[in-house]
Amino acid sequence: MGRERRRHTGTDQRPLPPPRKAPPPERDWTRVLLLAIVSCSIGLSAFAYSGYIKWSLAVRVVTLHPSPPILAPNSSSPSLSPNMFWGSYRPQVYFGMKTRSPHSVVTGLMWMSQAGAPSLRHTCEQGDGLARYGWLMHDGENFGIQEIQDGGFTLSTEFVKRPGGDHGGDWSWRIRASPEASSSSGQLVSLMFYVATDGQGTLTPHVEGKRHVTHVTGMSEELGQFTLRFPKAEGGGSHISYNYLSTSCPGLHTVTDVVRTSLRDHFTHPTESGGTRGNKRRYFGLDTYQPPPLPPGTPTRAPHTQLVVHQLTLQLPLQVEVVFESGSFQQRLGQLSGLSLSKELERHKSNMENRFKGIFRLEEKGFIPDQVAFAQAALSNMLGGMGYFYGSSLVQSPHNPEPVLYPAAPLYTAVPSRSFFPRGFLWDEGFHLLLIARWSPALAWQSLVHWLDLMNADGWIPREQILGSEARSKVPDEFVIQKSENANPPTLFLALRQLLANKETVGDAVHLLRRAWPRLQSWYDWYNVTQAGLLPHTYRWRGRDKDTLRFLNPKTLTSGLDDYPRASHPSEDERHVDLRCWMALASQVMADISQLLGEDGGHYLHDNRILTDNALLHQQHWSERLGAYADYGNHTHNTALEWVRPRAAPGQDPRSLPPPQLIRVVRKPPRLQYVGALGYVSFFPFFLQVLNPSSPHLGRLLDHIRDSDKVWTPYGIRSLSKSSSLYLQRNTEHDAPYWRGPVWINMNYLAVRALYLYSHMEGPHRDRLASLYRELRQNLLANLYRQYKDTGFLWEQYNDQTGKGQGCYPFTGWSSLVVLIMAEEY
Ligand SMILES: *[C@@H]1O[C@H](CO)[C@@H](O)[C@H](O)[C@H]1NC(C)=O
Ligand SMILES: *[C@@H]1O[C@H](CO)[C@@H](O)[C@H](O)[C@H]1NC(C)=O
Ligand SMILES: *[C@@H]1O[C@H](CO)[C@@H](O)[C@H](O)[C@H]1NC(C)=O
Repeated sequence: MGRERRRHTGTDQRPLPPPRKAPPPERDWTRVLLLAIVSCSIGLSAFAYSGYIKWSLAVRVVTLHPSPPILAPNSSSPSLSPNMFWGSYRPQVYFGMKTRSPHSVVTGLMWMSQAGAPSLRHTCEQGDGLARYGWLMHDGENFGIQEIQDGGFTLSTEFVKRPGGDHGGDWSWRIRASPEASSSSGQLVSLMFYVATDGQGTLTPHVEGKRHVTHVTGMSEELGQFTLRFPKAEGGGSHISYNYLSTSCPGLHTVTDVVRTSLRDHFTHPTESGGTRGNKRRYFGLDTYQPPPLPPGTPTRAPHTQLVVHQLTLQLPLQVEVVFESGSFQQRLGQLSGLSLSKELERHKSNMENRFKGIFRLEEKGFIPDQVAFAQAALSNMLGGMGYFYGSSLVQSPHNPEPVLYPAAPLYTAVPSRSFFPRGFLWDEGFHLLLIARWSPALAWQSLVHWLDLMNADGWIPREQILGSEARSKVPDEFVIQKSENANPPTLFLALRQLLANKETVGDAVHLLRRAWPRLQSWYDWYNVTQAGLLPHTYRWRGRDKDTLRFLNPKTLTSGLDDYPRASHPSEDERHVDLRCWMALASQVMADISQLLGEDGGHYLHDNRILTDNALLHQQHWSERLGAYADYGNHTHNTALEWVRPRAAPGQDPRSLPPPQLIRVVRKPPRLQYVGALGYVSFFPFFLQVLNPSSPHLGRLLDHIRDSDKVWTPYGIRSLSKSSSLYLQRNTEHDAPYWRGPVWINMNYLAVRALYLYSHMEGPHRDRLASLYRELRQNLLANLYRQYKDTGFLWEQYNDQTGKGQGCYPFTGWSSLVVLIMAEEY
């Protein structure tokens, strides 16, 4: 999905320019001298001028858009947005909070069972093999309730915020751990609460006895003075063992390692079993941190992060609270803990339940309470997955020999997956916002304008946002660089269309839209110009894999549909029907916004008329052979991957040969033609409502959609037809099929929605559309719910033959659109 989650080795190095010719020899010395002076000064100024051009081209990619940012620089500050200052904006950890500020003090939880070798839980990792984790409730603003199942016990992590003072107020946490079976009752577990600075601020642990931190006081620019309290824990037999660590380290991304390497097992905990005391058990506790020795000659730098960790070790079941109090909050009515914490949690819970009921009305549609809870969890994970990141992307344009740093900027965004993709993705975000906007248009606007503010002077937005050291530490280096020729589907227009349709709230957003307008214009232009095809009004994704030897079909990561089959031989002749439909949508939304703002939107309307002209669409993208819309390009489907084994020369040791390689062979030469792949791309004119409801092609598309030998499955619409030659084919030895068969929920959402919308329009297929709509909706809901019950997660994609969740998990980005499908909100 344009996530570059696979290794990609396609090189993109431009050849060096040919060396300049030396000037011809001269004889007449005065002339030589004169010429030398003249040519020298011309040369110098030409050199200076070309140097200047080079420089200005090179810095352009990192020059931000000239219009004033939509967000005021302090719009996230505690004075302007106090209720949103603190939040669970660290989706990459199981549980943690930070503020919406560039260098926030962060807080978090780690834990480990003391049974067996210690395995520390901190950042969300699929490798941890947790049976289930995720938010059951989270309203995106005030509170959250999460449940985590780990080896024999269930942890619940809850937080609630309390506004007050000038620095974002207070919050409290409650962590409970209960054994799943009686056998794990009494199991020894350690919880570790930490607080860490990110470049600024101070922390002071207050220690009772030798190792018991009772509270931490601190100060930072944004938080002022604060206190983090650890009130006495409950349960766990009568004994609690304490340890702590107070140290410094190079940055937040090293916190897990620092804690792990500071554990020693020479501590003992008195355990009770059968009422008898006196057994002592060794456990792993925090001792001192010894940083690894630096290589000699490394300059010592001031440590970036100060870290305090409070460890409690106790037996299950247990309940622990943590209380954060802001120094500027004066009129506090008692500590937010114990009973008052329970009350606040209850109050927010019932508020959320009522609000959820009012917005999505699932009960009225006949869903049982368990299904409603499933939907509520899906929404909560989308909201609880929203992060606040700050930092610089690493970008490169054709004018930069080396990648360069983008200006540092904040991004408030949802993420596709807390474990695998805990960062912002342009193409996912438009889908995320469809759901978020139903819950809270204000939250959706905030994310949207954060994204638009990342635009550069050319109108380009880097598509994957890896901001800050924590985010960076999750991405292999080779995938970090964002190339400025590369697009990603402009799905933010989907979100915008929906936000504009909300007549109650769009009025409040007009001032944002007005500020956003110059950016939106540049964004549109950027696509319209840089991704234009050879023929007028056609479009082509740039950035396809160039290496045609290694890939069965060179990938198009930029389209979001990675390995979905396109023309076998990338060339300028290509035209991509999905991108054309995205542009049709974009032009429509631009025309709508210009109308709302009283701006001249004539050229967007004009573009829209052309891009939705079904006769032109037919001419440029209809493949009669396929009976569907298609890409066009230099293509053959007679390609295959074959093993090529190097032969040993006479006398050569066969063991010294390089390993065999899978190489693409082309059995029939490519020619300009439609790409004969039936799948998501073929349906885009329908998915994005470019197709007229009376189109003679609609019936044929519906035939394909309902055909089980093609894309129909009991679990949703599969990405690529079973009849396609690339169906479930690997792209290289290491690239499993990704968009070549599995069922994806974002596209199925578009499909269900299109069926619904067309079934409400005049046309010859209304009844059929309506029944297909019911059937597809039912299939999707039944399978996603079943998989959730079975596995505890929403998944990145679903197997088209078994319906089983696959790919990464939890994937509560666009798979959470299941909520809108349940609610029939399109
Ligand atoms: C926001 O920042 C500007 C300048 O950076 C400052 O003048 C203004 O007072 C700030 N507003 C608030 C409410 O903090
Ligand atoms: C988009 O590109 C087309 C073709 O180059 C051009 O005719 C049209 O005016 C452009 N649209 C806008 C809004 O600039
Ligand atoms: C198609 O690709 C082949 C192989 O790269 C090339 O030889 C041929 O000229 C291309 N055809 C067109 C029309 O570009």
